[in-house]
Amino acid sequence: MSSLPPTPPSTTDTNSQEEEGNIFSKYYSQLSHQQNMLTDHVRTKTYQQSFFKNTLDFQGKDCLDVGTGSGILAFFCVQAGAKEVWGVEMSRITIAAKKLVQSNNLSSKIHIVKGKMEEVELPKKVDVIVSEPLGFLLVHERMLESYITGRDRYLKPGGKMFPSNSTIYTAPFTDDNLYMETVSKSDFWCNSDFMGVDLSALHETSMEEAFGQPVVGYFHPDILLSEDRGTHFVDFMTVTHEALKNFEIDFSHSITKTAVCHGIACWFDCDFSGSQETVVLKTGPEAPGTHWYQCRLMFREPLAVNKGQTLNGTLTFRANDSFSYDVNVKAGIDCSPRIETENMVFLQDQHYHYLYAEESAVDAQGQGHVRGNEGQV
Ligand SMILES: C[S@@+](CC[C@H](N)C(=O)[O-])C[C@H]1O[C@@H](n2cnc3c(N)ncnc32)[C@H](O)[C@@H]1O
Repeated sequence: MSSLPPTPPSTTDTNSQEEEGNIFSKYYSQLSHQQNMLTDHVRTKTYQQSFFKNTLDFQGKDCLDVGTGSGILAFFCVQAGAKEVWGVEMSRITIAAKKLVQSNNLSSKIHIVKGKMEEVELPKKVDVIVSEPLGFLLVHERMLESYITGRDRYLKPGGKMFPSNSTIYTAPFTDDNLYMETVSKSDFWCNSDFMGVDLSALHETSMEEAFGQPVVGYFHPDILLSEDRGTHFVDFMTVTHEALKNFEIDFSHSITKTAVCHGIACWFDCDFSGSQETVVLKTGPEAPGTHWYQCRLMFREPLAVNKGQTLNGTLTFRANDSFSYDVNVKAGIDCSPRIETENMVFLQDQHYHYLYAEESAVDAQGQGHVRGNEGQV
């Protein structure tokens, strides 16, 4: 089969050609954001290890990297023995990626292709697709949809995907400080005489806004109120677009501590299931920190729970036009009469919360983990 010739310096990777319609394109065109991902040691090392421990899947193979960014995963493919790699990338970071490919003398093996995965034309199907399409709580950014578009368009039958599947986990948590902090964000709107204007009609709206934000940051596992985990398994080899756009996570947690439950904590793991070994990327509260942190969905009305009771409910995810999800959080205690709470959370409005559990913010070598994702969209 023929291969693409080395890509000449592009004349289309210019500012004026910046894609419209994807709010992440500008964000990812900046080296500082690519650097933030590259220096997430847990993330980047796990990807490289998953390729290195499955070299049989890469040796002499054609690969596609969906959303290549700086090109790092394409380089790892070559390091693992790939014959050629097409790195598809929608943002202007392609200029930087091409520079790295040229300066590392890999222009005959790595082809950086500027464009959206949904639109680009590649010369052939591939044996392996790699990608890092993971947002916080796995699904924010909705890039998994582009990953499986790559699968549907370009993966040969029997081909491999790295990562191959992922599981979202849930558990109830208690955190008085976080709850009080969230309530007090709206105190300003209680003011009945702000320069002669009564603002209190907006207090309720402000509370909805505050509790509608997912809280992204580390927390200590001690705040979890159950050993049980709600789970949602996503198999990247088979999942459909529809199943990514609308899904539900049912949970049922036997409560292990009497406390006030302030919401549902969520995180995810990802499996890289190669022919030789399965490597797992973990982002839970007991694992070394990553730039995905963990995510907490608050209850507007907290629930007092007793040890031995069961808290159950559903998280309903609906994809939205902001490359994210509206999540309906519904939970109740199985007692008579049933006590329920419900809240809407909008994943694109994340509140980064770094004030807690510094000790869990360590990387795989026990060093302080990269910080400063506040600007993330
Ligand atoms: C999370 S970053 C990962 C970058 C790089 N692969 C890495 O692991 O460091 C995702 C990259 O995919 C790109 N991207 C997102 N959606 C895309 C799409 N539909 N088509 C092409 N590139 C896309 C983004 O611009 C971004 O550079």
